[in-house]
Amino acid sequence: MQTNPRLTLAIQRKGRLSDSSLSLLARSGLRFEPTDNALICSAQNFPVDILLVRDDDIPTFVKDGVSDLGIVGENVLQEQAEYTHDFEKVKSLGFGQCRLSIALPTEIPFTDIQQLQNKRIATSYPKILRQFLLSQQMDAKVISISGSVEIAPRLNMAEAICDLVATGKTLAENNLKEVFTILESQAALVKTSKVLSTQKKHILNDLLQRLDGVLAC
Ligand code: PRP
Ligand code: ZN
Repeated sequence: MQTNPRLTLAIQRKGRLSDSSLSLLARSGLRFEPTDNALICSAQNFPVDILLVRDDDIPTFVKDGVSDLGIVGENVLQEQAEYTHDFEKVKSLGFGQCRLSIALPTEIPFTDIQQLQNKRIATSYPKILRQFLLSQQMDAKVISISGSVEIAPRLNMAEAICDLVATGKTLAENNLKEVFTILESQAALVKTSKVLSTQKKHILNDLLQRLDGVLAC
């Protein structure tokens, strides 16, 4: 028995990109009703199932073809760049703008990035940070933590942090200041490199036309 194929799209469940991702899909004409704890949500009027997951896991879902598509920050893509041959970036989406920056406690004067030589920097982006340090011919101890990085200086785990900044609210609330930008980022649509069935390709083309219509406005 042949069931009608549905395209799967992974988006961030809870975080900076969640509302804008859902809003983009809604404005593209997809009707769906995500409930608070649901991890999957089917569009009622279009053959797309939305997976609601952690943003850092989206490259894994898409590379394995568990999800055909994903909406994820370019920062996450860059951190997990070893997977780039497993998926294709379809387009940047013009929302979720943020930057990956070095931040220091507000009371510490900043003169030059070289002042972090041999210091400890806490981050959830160890690969991008290490590449950056290498490019500056700097040595620093990269302390890798998966969340709440802003707490590290107060706990004397690190002298500085390297984290995403959007509005700057999180830094300000933690008495930190942004001193150096490493990377600019926004949300992007990615597609698995696994070959899609002809039917799924049709659904994808239809979805892309709808997204383009919204993004052009
Ligand atoms: C980022 C970052 C900060 C916050 C910064 O988290 O880790 O906590 O956004 O935003 P602000 O400058 O507007 O305060 P993200 O949404 O990427 O979630 P995650 O770290 O849980 O993946
Ligand atoms: Zn994340």
